[in-house]
Order: sequence, then C-alpha cells, then structure tokens
Amino acid sequence: MPPSGPDLRAAIIGTGGYLPEERLDNAALAARFNLDTSDEWIVERTGIRHRHIAAPNQLASDLGAEAAREALTRAGVDAAEIDAIIVATATPDSAFPSTAARVQAKLGVTRGFAFDISAACTGFVYALSVADAMIRTGQARCALVIGAEVFTRILDWTDRGTCVLFGDGAGAVVLRAVPASEGRGILSCHLHADGTQGDLLSVDPAAQVVRMTGREVFRHAVTKLAAVVDEALAANGLDKSEVSWLVPHQANRRIIDAMGRKLNLPAERVVMTVDRHANTSAASIPLALAEATRDGRIQPGELVLMEAIGGGLTWGAALARF
Ligand code: COA
Repeated sequence: MPPSGPDLRAAIIGTGGYLPEERLDNAALAARFNLDTSDEWIVERTGIRHRHIAAPNQLASDLGAEAAREALTRAGVDAAEIDAIIVATATPDSAFPSTAARVQAKLGVTRGFAFDISAACTGFVYALSVADAMIRTGQARCALVIGAEVFTRILDWTDRGTCVLFGDGAGAVVLRAVPASEGRGILSCHLHADGTQGDLLSVDPAAQVVRMTGREVFRHAVTKLAAVVDEALAANGLDKSEVSWLVPHQANRRIIDAMGRKLNLPAERVVMTVDRHANTSAASIPLALAEATRDGRIQPGELVLMEAIGGGLTWGAALARF
C-alpha cells in the first residue's frame, strides 16, 4: 500500500482515446452544410484538415467509455479497482445522471464515486487537478480522468466562423497513487478563470449553440497560455529546456506553434492532432496523450507539459513526469 498524505503523487499509468467512425474533411463539411468557406482557408487559419463526427446514437458517455476501456487495458487495471471517475465535458448526456456515472455503468462498476466537471476546453486540466488533489490526500487511490465531447451537437452549422473548428472524441487517463519518492506523476496543476470574459466563447442559452468572438479568444489564448506555462515551470523550479513534450489543447495550429516557439521546442516535441481531430474541447489533451504514448513517443521519465484555454474564460496548465 502506498503511504497517504504529502508523500503521494498521482502517476499517469495508462492512456486511451476514441474517435467516432465518421471522418469528415473540410471540403465535405463545406458541401454538406453549404458553407461559404474553403479547405485552403480552414487549413491556413487553423491547421484543421478533418474531424470526426459522432453517430446520431452516440453520447459523450459512449465515447468516454471507449477511451476509458483502452486506458484501463494499457494501465493493466481492472475497472473494479477504480474508485473515482471524473468526466470533463461541455456536452454531457443530460443534466443528470452525470456523464461520469453513465461511464461508470458502461464499465460495469458499482463502487467508488463519479462526477462531471464543466470548464469547457480547459476541462481536462481542471479534472486532472481535482483527481490529483484527491489522490494526494488519500481520498482516491485509482482514478479515471476522462475528457469526452460530442461538440458537433452544439454547433451553429450556418456560422462558418465556428462550425469548421470543432470535432467529437474522447480521451482518458488512469491515475494511481504512487510514493512521491518514485519521482513520477503529476507535479502540479495551475487553474484560472475570468468569468467577466465569459461572453467571448459561450453556448447561447436560448439557441444552445456555440458563439465565439474568434479574434479576441485568440488574443487571450496566446497571452494567458504563455503566462500559465511560466507559472507551472516556476512553481517546480524547472527551466523550459527540461520539458520533453508539449501536449497542448488542440484549438488552432497557430496558437500551438506559438507555444512551441515560446518553449524553444522543436516541432517534433509538440504533439499535434488538430489537423486530424479539430478542436475536441475537453477531449483534445487526453486524445493527444493517448496518441503519443500509444506510438511510443512519450517515454517513462519524460516531462510533459499540458496547457489549455476555453470558455469561461478558463485556462490552466499541468506538469507531469511519466
Ligand atoms: N471560411 C472563410 N472565411 C471565414 C471563415 C471560414 N470558415 N470564418 C470566418 N471567415 C471570415 C470572416 O467572416 C472574416 O471576413 P470579413 O473580413 O469579410 O469580415 C474573415 O474571415 C476574418 O475573420 P476573423 O474572425 O477575423 O479571422 P481570424 O483570422 O481571426 O480567424 C479563427 C478566425 C476563428 C480561425 C481565429 O480567430 C481563431 O482561431 N480564434 C481562436 C479560436 C479558438 O481557438 N477557439 C477555441 C478556444 S478553446
């Protein structure tokens, strides 16, 4: 049994991801929704080439459960060992039961607890932070943290400024309490919100679709992400040269490239999925983590920096040693 209290860390011992079967490229999207846009415009401004779209009968919990199954398998953990399931989502199955409770049921588990977190595209970093705190304090020993979105359900398909940017998917990690002396695990999480900027990126309460002032969000993203990354490194006495991998929220290639340049990281050390997944909101970081661990890029002992910004506004960063 690992010790409890300040000697514990939450290690990421498994990752998983799931993308719905249907893959739609920019030209097909424009044709399907009769949009005045082009593949060239979308690729140049965002880096997005295609995205996946959930089937009509698929809910966020279906995607989340698929990602969770892979994460559990890769961790070598039985679902019955999980005592906390936290799902970050902006597109829950319904107000309640929580999407996390639905995932729990789909995994066939009845022990432990489950709840959702709402922090839009920053949701995974928020959920990771909550799970980390619960593991460090002994409230949970083994946790599933999932980002799951059917974001294309809340898009206005007549608004070319938003509907080309998003996709559906889910990613998951299994966290386990390990002694801090092992040196691995989540080092720290740094969360922020500024509700006064909430209308820059929101779901219209009447129409239930996303509204965004893209240029303003872009401006906030570049400055706030740079600041929170500095905050995370400083909190751990680390220099940017010690970061092995940047695994950023995948909203826009230009934002990701700017963060890579800030950290002096070569492009091959920045995990990029936005070209193939588009922005999957809370799912984008765990999907990228799953891809880069599955293909052997992220290795044990390496330092991974995660950062995200989204509706709220919310933003945050997390540092983890694999
Ligand atoms: N196809 C073609 N033209 C488009 C378009 C599309 N899909 N979407 C917008 N445009 C047009 C606009 O109508 C505007 O035309 P106008 O000058 O005639 O009015 C022009 O392109 C420029 O619009 P603007 O919004 O200023 O473009 P931009 O360079 O800022 O790029 C985004 C738009 C959305 C790609 C960019 O602002 C962005 O990525 N913002 C951050 C969004 C984000 O990451 N959100 C999620 C955070 S979690």
